[in-house]
Amino acid sequence: MRDENQSSVLDIFLLGVSSHQEQEDFFFILFLFIYPITLIGNLLIILAIRSDIRLHNPMYFLLANLSFVDIVFSSVTIPKGLANHLLGTRAISFGGCLTQMYFMIALANTDSYILAAMAYDRAVAITRPLHYATIMSPWTCVLLVTGSWVVGNASAFPHTLLTASLSYCGNQEVANFYCDTASLLKLSCSDIHFNVKVMYLGVGVFSVPLLCIIISYVQVFSTVLRVPSTKRVLKAFSTCGSHLTVVSLYYGTVMGMYFRPLTSYSLKDAVITVMYIAVTPVLNPFIYTLRNRVMKAALEKLFSKRTSSHPI
Ligand SMILES: *[C@@H]1O[C@H](CO)[C@@H](O)[C@H](O)[C@H]1NC(C)=O
Repeated sequence: MRDENQSSVLDIFLLGVSSHQEQEDFFFILFLFIYPITLIGNLLIILAIRSDIRLHNPMYFLLANLSFVDIVFSSVTIPKGLANHLLGTRAISFGGCLTQMYFMIALANTDSYILAAMAYDRAVAITRPLHYATIMSPWTCVLLVTGSWVVGNASAFPHTLLTASLSYCGNQEVANFYCDTASLLKLSCSDIHFNVKVMYLGVGVFSVPLLCIIISYVQVFSTVLRVPSTKRVLKAFSTCGSHLTVVSLYYGTVMGMYFRPLTSYSLKDAVITVMYIAVTPVLNPFIYTLRNRVMKAALEKLFSKRTSSHPI
């Protein structure tokens, strides 16, 4: 079945989420439902924020950017997984595999840096409310967003180049439904010591935003608790609650993914990976909209504008 000779056309075989057919089918149906909801939910967030002037502030601009990253993030792996399942194939070209790897690393990093920018924004809003407008200027916002994309791509580039330059022979099967760095490194027959070091460096780059988030929230909580009043605590929770939920969900699944042994891959790992790839991006729009009156109003306005024929 496999072409063992070392030709320039290397195909990788994605073994999927699980080796059991019923579990594969279950995840296929799950992806089939979740993926369109992710696209529509995040697109609606972007449109709602664009259309409502009350949402034209740093917090929501950053949220719109997060939604955009989530759309691209899920589109890197899920459509290919769905297509392969439908076509009854497991193959992905080596180039496709590297592309998936590149965008997964780039977008995961961009995502976490935007989450950090959002935490910084909340910390400024609560600890220095009088200076908020000057600190979080449109210029700062653009800088934070551009910085997130630059760091994301800069961290994906060396990984991908290094992985591409290895030689591959023998086993070409990836025990996952997309090409992740660790699985690709395991396929190689070159010396991967340097690659593994760079991978750990990458985990370091990825941890910086988490540190920023923790520092931001320590500041938020110490400010709120300095002069504790029910009103202030409630205000802090209403503005930070959604963000804290998203951050916990995101880093919770990331930790679950990174801190597993590289050798084994069980159903539990599959579930965590699926949580990270599919469930986190779909939940963000709901978390931000459900308890947010302004977002809900913006969405309603969006729909009434679309259904009525005359412009406002
Ligand atoms: C991302 O943030 C920038 C800077 O605030 C903003 O101009 C842009 O519209 C945002 N992107 C999206 C997709 O909303």
